[in-house]
Amino acid sequence: MVTKKMKVYYRFFLFIAITGIFFYGIKTTISGPYLQSIHGSPTSGVQRNNLTQFSKGNCVHCHEMHASIGGSEPTPVKPGPSLFTLLADEENACYYCHGSTSNNNPPLSKNIQAQFQNTYRHPVERSGLHKKPAYLETATDLQPPYRHSECTDCHNPHVLLQTTHTYNSTSPASNNLVSGVLMGVFGVEPQGWLYWGSPTTFYELRPSPSNPTGGASKEYQICLKCHSYYGFGSSLNTSTGVTTITGPSGIYLTDQAREFSPQNYSFHPVVQPLNTTPRGGSTPYALTAGQLNSPWSVNPGSQTMYCSDCHGAYAWDATGTQIKGPHGTSNPFILIEGRYWPSKPSNCGGGYWTLSDIRNNQCSWQINLLCAKCHPLYSGTGWKNKVHNIHVGKSATCNGTSYTSVPCITCHIAIPHGSKNSRLIGNSSDPSPYNICSAITRFTKAFGPFNYSKYSCSTLSGCH
Ligand code: HEC
Ligand code: HEC
Ligand code: HEC
Ligand code: HEC
Ligand code: HEC
Ligand code: HEC
Ligand code: HEC
Repeated sequence: MVTKKMKVYYRFFLFIAITGIFFYGIKTTISGPYLQSIHGSPTSGVQRNNLTQFSKGNCVHCHEMHASIGGSEPTPVKPGPSLFTLLADEENACYYCHGSTSNNNPPLSKNIQAQFQNTYRHPVERSGLHKKPAYLETATDLQPPYRHSECTDCHNPHVLLQTTHTYNSTSPASNNLVSGVLMGVFGVEPQGWLYWGSPTTFYELRPSPSNPTGGASKEYQICLKCHSYYGFGSSLNTSTGVTTITGPSGIYLTDQAREFSPQNYSFHPVVQPLNTTPRGGSTPYALTAGQLNSPWSVNPGSQTMYCSDCHGAYAWDATGTQIKGPHGTSNPFILIEGRYWPSKPSNCGGGYWTLSDIRNNQCSWQINLLCAKCHPLYSGTGWKNKVHNIHVGKSATCNGTSYTSVPCITCHIAIPHGSKNSRLIGNSSDPSPYNICSAITRFTKAFGPFNYSKYSCSTLSGCH
């Protein structure tokens, strides 16, 4: 029975809880443009089903003191998100609305929880290692033995807007800037990029109570806080770029600050467009328009791209309820849905992709090969470079198996982020996992894709 006295107590407690959160919040939280954020919006913000007496966007839909409002007393921590336990609730606080059962009113359409049930995923289920608000974390909070990845390491729930990235054709060099969902997140930028070397000093780009939308301005800066020396610490061998941390796909993780350095002879343009930095290796830096699919074919040499154009269920071209972001997919390395590299999907007999898979139209390469999403490789008019054309009929041995046509990774580096050679060509002297079966001992880029000769390259068997 609810007595009058209980109601008075309840109202008093509610008042204290809300003013407490409010004033504490004003003093310390990154809640600056909260009312403009998607969660704080009075028209489309947070609203728990069982708390419709509070307006949309109200903090109490996520924060409440000791489950005093919508939770069941007297449990002080669970169920229900509560201010000082949100850190402990981790991904479950977000799944409350973004999960398989949405407790939001109206219900949300994108099920993020389902993505994290894939084998290849960010390990949000690892618990008890994210001990501070993400914007206050330092290198030691991210390095082993605390290595973790929670939703709030990549998203700031007080600041984020609803927008995700698309291809920006008006300003193609800006195709690596953080989208709305990544605003106000702590990231790092190396203090100087190296030629195939691991930077060990970083600028820390943090949002702060006085600058809540501060933080990473580029998506890769968020990734690098965990995928470079900053987040690897002594698990990274800074002379090889390889760590002793095994990722969900079963290989040792490597240093992305080394691989995407604009000082390398080649790289996917995540940090800078290909033509921006004069560097080693001969010109031209950019590919020709014919070596790229739309929309990438419009601005060769002057565009950047996102890590999440290759990692995550869907990329820049997602439509409808397709979800972007490197949460988790059913493909190794969290590659975009249905796309594989360097191995073929198991339903095509396994093994590595070879040039004849393309030439002979095998294994639905146009929809299954990662590279084919952005590079046409072969069409009615033939190959897009002479080297592919010449080698399609040559045999090779890779990782103990003989192939009647040359596997891609005989020439290309297995991790296609960047290389010390031009055109993502690997080296037979590279360590694993960069090298699986590289035959290349020297490579010189030609003036154009059809200008190659046997003098462009040397191999282990000296066949050139
Ligand atoms: C009380 C419900 C609720 C909780 C808890 C919640 N959200 Fe949301 N979230 C929403 C609503 C409502 C929207 C905007 C409407 C929509 O998505 O349809 C939204 C939007 C978003 C968006 C923008 C993209 C999109 O799909 O609209 C992101 C990103 C996001 N939330 C992340 C998070 C993260 C990370 C957490 C946990 C820290 C979290 N949310 C917790 C209700 C919630
Ligand atoms: C979508 C859910 C959500 C909403 C809405 C929300 N918060 Fe938070 N809040 C969180 C999460 C999750 C954390 C833990 C942050 C982390 O792990 O980095 C947090 C942390 C905090 C903290 C401690 C860290 C800090 O920033 O100092 C304060 C204070 C806070 N929130 C206040 C508020 C206030 C005030 C509001 C309303 C203006 C609000 N929050 C609205 C989810 C939310
Ligand atoms: C807060 C830390 C953190 C951040 C930020 C982060 N990651 Fe990760 N990432 C991890 C952890 C932890 C793993 C699992 C492997 C491990 O234990 O280190 C992982 C795994 C991965 C894998 C899977 C590797 C495999 O073996 O399949 C990919 C791909 C990946 N991350 C890409 C990204 C991208 C892209 C970004 C930026 C959008 C990013 N990560 C940001 C911590 C992080
Ligand atoms: C052009 C597509 C592409 C882009 C862009 C890309 N990746 Fe990858 N990434 C791959 C592929 C393919 C693999 C699998 C490599 C292998 O088989 O060893 C991979 C592997 C990884 C792995 C796991 C293995 C390792 O070496 O650590 C991580 C982590 C990762 N990428 C993070 C990132 C981050 C962070 C970014 C942006 C800074 C990024 N990737 C951008 C294609 C891409
Ligand atoms: C999401 C789109 C995308 C995917 C997937 C992709 N690439 Fe690229 N690739 C690009 C873009 C964009 C460039 C830069 C072209 C330019 O601006 O000139 C590029 C450039 C390259 C270059 C030239 C780099 C240099 O510095 O010389 C090579 C080689 C290359 N890609 C190979 C690959 C291979 C191999 C794969 C598959 C493992 C792949 N790409 C997958 C978009 C992609
Ligand atoms: C490793 C970093 C990382 C982690 C961890 C992470 N996200 Fe994301 N998330 C991203 C990126 C990157 C995007 C896509 C950004 C873009 O396309 O501009 C994204 C996109 C989203 C979107 C919008 C999807 C769309 O297509 O509209 C939602 C919602 C979201 N994340 C929620 C979550 C929730 C909830 C969690 C935890 C359960 C989580 N994320 C964990 C990096 C992450
Ligand atoms: C015999 C060595 C060799 C093999 C095998 C090889 N490549 Fe290449 N690839 C090259 C060279 C050299 C270039 C640079 C062409 C240029 O300078 O424009 C290149 C360029 C590319 C490009 C840039 C776009 C284009 O079409 O030129 C992509 C994408 C690519 N390769 C993917 C692949 C894939 C996928 C495979 C396997 C199916 C593969 N390569 C096998 C040597 C090779």
